[in-house]
Amino acid sequence: MTEATTHEDVRHYYGDVLRSTRDLKTGACCPTESMPAWLRPLLADIHPEITDRFYGCGSPLPPAVEGMTVLDLGCGTGRDVYLLSRLVGAEGQVIGVDMTPEQLAVAERHRDWHAQRYGYAESNVRLVEGQIERLDACGIADASVDVVVSNCVLNLSPQKDKVFAEILRVLKPGGELYFSDVFADRRIPAALRADPVLLGECLSGALYIEDFRRMLGQLGCADARCVSQAPIPLLDPAIEARIGMVGFRSMTMRAFRLDLEDRCEDYGQIATYRGSAPTLPHAFLLDDHHRFETGRPMRVCGNTFDMLASSRFARHFDLHGDKRNHFGLFDCASAAAGTDVTNGSCC
Ligand SMILES: C[S@@+](CC[C@H](N)C(=O)[O-])C[C@H]1O[C@@H](n2cnc3c(N)ncnc32)[C@H](O)[C@@H]1O
Repeated sequence: MTEATTHEDVRHYYGDVLRSTRDLKTGACCPTESMPAWLRPLLADIHPEITDRFYGCGSPLPPAVEGMTVLDLGCGTGRDVYLLSRLVGAEGQVIGVDMTPEQLAVAERHRDWHAQRYGYAESNVRLVEGQIERLDACGIADASVDVVVSNCVLNLSPQKDKVFAEILRVLKPGGELYFSDVFADRRIPAALRADPVLLGECLSGALYIEDFRRMLGQLGCADARCVSQAPIPLLDPAIEARIGMVGFRSMTMRAFRLDLEDRCEDYGQIATYRGSAPTLPHAFLLDDHHRFETGRPMRVCGNTFDMLASSRFARHFDLHGDKRNHFGLFDCASAAAGTDVTNGSCC
């Protein structure tokens, strides 16, 4: 199966086969991970035609994006684009890239509607038809994006290493990749990967989670964090019979364009959340084992410290320490144990 065939199969599936979320055969392209409470009210201001044609598996909408430039890879009909349009505000910008014209046409149709709804003089959304493996051809310059998001798309790419390389190229230093996707608990046999329905349903192209970490590591991104995850139900007995030996999960992952270490190391550093990120007065969730309560100092490893100190999150934290003294490997502990200065918690 060539890359062009995969693109054509996927374009056909999302352009001609699917008409609404109800046409999906499995639970893969459905939001199995629950949406964070602070985002739910915003859905009421998304046009119903868009919510009706949403095929994402999660809610890759990170906090603290006001004024940022955000790029959505495989934006489809634009649910996340328009949620982000609101979150970045009139001073920010959202770029949506998708290769299926029928999907983009729906998003385009409601561009001005959302701008009006949000009270913007003009839309802060730009929609681009193109392939996520070729962001250069979409006019996305080096180091021009603060946050890259994507919802249930990277599994569909026949050249995932190229997509991750492009993401790291377009991100500014300290910028963030925050995406939801389908991951597999093993490598999927080639014969199943070529099946257009299993592929289109976001199953057979899913990356084995350890290969995802290796791929990012080879590109110099040594520490990707899981924010949330949920099992994916296959629902259809015929699909279960073909690929039921694989365990699928929807996972929301975050990684930064930062020079991090491959293990969590202890330098005696401490981070305290100020409670200042909009809509998050009580706690800030970095990942599934770092929940920073407002005002409560937490011991962190060198990588976590850098994720907070060298990204847009820096202004929301009091950060103490540097890397002059090294105390060995960071003592990994459960999230529950890691909420005060006497207990470390890392991956
Ligand atoms: C499962 S849908 C998700 C759409 C959207 N993110 C959402 O949450 O509703 C996958 C989308 O990715 C697009 N897509 C898949 N592979 C792509 C690629 N290589 N380049 C650009 N777009 C791609 C498809 O056209 C489709 O709109």
